[in-house]
Amino acid sequence: MRLDSLSTLNYRNLAPFTLAFPAGVTGVFGENGAGKTNLLEAAYLALTGLTDVTRLEQLVQQGETEAYVRADLESGGSLSVQEVGLGRGRRQLKLDGVRVRTGDLPRGSAVWIRPEDSEMVFGSPSGRRVFLDSLLSRLSARYAEQLSRYDRTVSQRNAALRGGEEWAMHVWDESLVRLGSEIMLFRRRALVRLNELAAEANAALGSRKPLTLTLTESTTPESYAQDLAARRAEELARGSTVTGPHRDDLLLTLGGFPASEYASRGEGRTVALALRRAELELLAERFGERPVLLIDDFSAELDPVRRSFLLELAASVPQAIVTGTERAPGAALTLRAQSGRFMPEGSAVQDRSAVQDGAAAEDGTAVETELPPVAGVGA
Ligand SMILES: Nc1ncnc2c1ncn2[C@@H]1O[C@H](COP(=O)(O)OP(=O)(O)OP(=O)(O)O)[C@@H](O)[C@H]1O
Ligand SMILES: [Mg+2]
Repeated sequence: MRLDSLSTLNYRNLAPFTLAFPAGVTGVFGENGAGKTNLLEAAYLALTGLTDVTRLEQLVQQGETEAYVRADLESGGSLSVQEVGLGRGRRQLKLDGVRVRTGDLPRGSAVWIRPEDSEMVFGSPSGRRVFLDSLLSRLSARYAEQLSRYDRTVSQRNAALRGGEEWAMHVWDESLVRLGSEIMLFRRRALVRLNELAAEANAALGSRKPLTLTLTESTTPESYAQDLAARRAEELARGSTVTGPHRDDLLLTLGGFPASEYASRGEGRTVALALRRAELELLAERFGERPVLLIDDFSAELDPVRRSFLLELAASVPQAIVTGTERAPGAALTLRAQSGRFMPEGSAVQDRSAVQDGAAAEDGTAVETELPPVAGVGA
C-alpha cells in the first residue's frame, strides 16, 4: 500500500495543502504544537475512514464548519482516491468519487503507532477491547457486522431492563447469546495468531520478559444462556447487561505479571508497540500487502534500543511517516513542521504566491495548494 499524496482543507490547525510522499520513510519534525500529530491523524482518516474522535467538530478548524481530507493511493498496481468530508457530526466517505461506507474502503491500508497507545496497557479494559475489536473488524467484515448487531442488542436490552420488561428478556437473551457466542469464538481464534505475533515482536524489541495475551471472559458460549438467567435479578436492579463479550478484557501479562499493574512506563510502551506490530503483521497476512505505517513521536518514552526498533520497523514497510521533535535518521524525505505547514528540509517557507495548482509535485516534495470546495458534506 502506498500513499502517493495527502490533501487536507480546514483540518485542525493544518494549512490547506497537498503533500506528495515518496516510498520509504518520510520524517516530519518540528516543535510542540506544530501539527505533526494532526498530519498523521488526517492521513489515518484519509487512508482508513476511521477516527477515534467522537466529536467530529473537533477535527474541523476553529471558525470553519466543514473539513476535508483526501488520499491518493496505490495498491497492487492500481490507483484510487479516497475522500472524507467532515461536517457537524457527519462524516462522508468517497472512493473514486462514489459515496461509500467505512467497510467499503480497503481495510488493511494503515497502522498508526502513537504514545497514547500506552493507555491500552495501563488504562481500563475498554481500551484493550477497542484495540481487539477494531483489529478484528478490519480482518473480518462479518465480525464488524456481528459486533455492531451485538452492541445494538445490548443497548436495546439495557433499555428493556431499565423498563422492567422481564417478560421480554427471553427474546433479547436469544439474540445476545447467538451474537455474543460468535464474537467470543472469533476472538479466541484470532488470539492464537495475535499472541504469537505479539510475543515475537516483544522479543524483537529486546524485552527479556515474555508477553502473553489472554482473554478474560465473563462467560462462555456454552454457559452464556444460564449465566444470563442466573444474574437476571441483578441485571434488572442495575438496568444493564453485566455478562458478555462487551465486558471481557484482554489480559496482557509481562514476565508473569499483569502489565497494567506492574510494567514500567517504557515497558508499557514496549508492550503497546508489540501489539501494534502484531496488528501490522496480521493485516499484511490477511490482505497480502503491508500497510502504510504512521508513527507519531518516535522517541517518546523509548530507550535507544526500542527507538531503533521503531525506525527499523518503519524501514521494513514500503512506506512510513515518522514524526518527532527531532529528525528521524535515514528518511527518504524530511519535512519541517511549523504552524500547520510542512516544508521539505532545506527549503524556505513557501509564500502563497508561489503556490502550485493541482496535484503534488512528482519529485516527492511538498507543495501547498488550494483544494476544490468540499461539495455536499453531510448532504
Ligand atoms: N480544530 C482545531 N482548529 C484549530 N487548531 C487546532 C484544532 N485542533 C487542534 N488544534 C491545534 O493544532 C495544534 C497542533 O497540534 P498537534 O497535536 O498536531 O501538535 P504536534 O506537532 O503533534 O505537537 P507535539 O510535539 O506536542 O505532539 C495545537 O496547537 C492544537 O491546539
Ligand atoms: Mg504530537
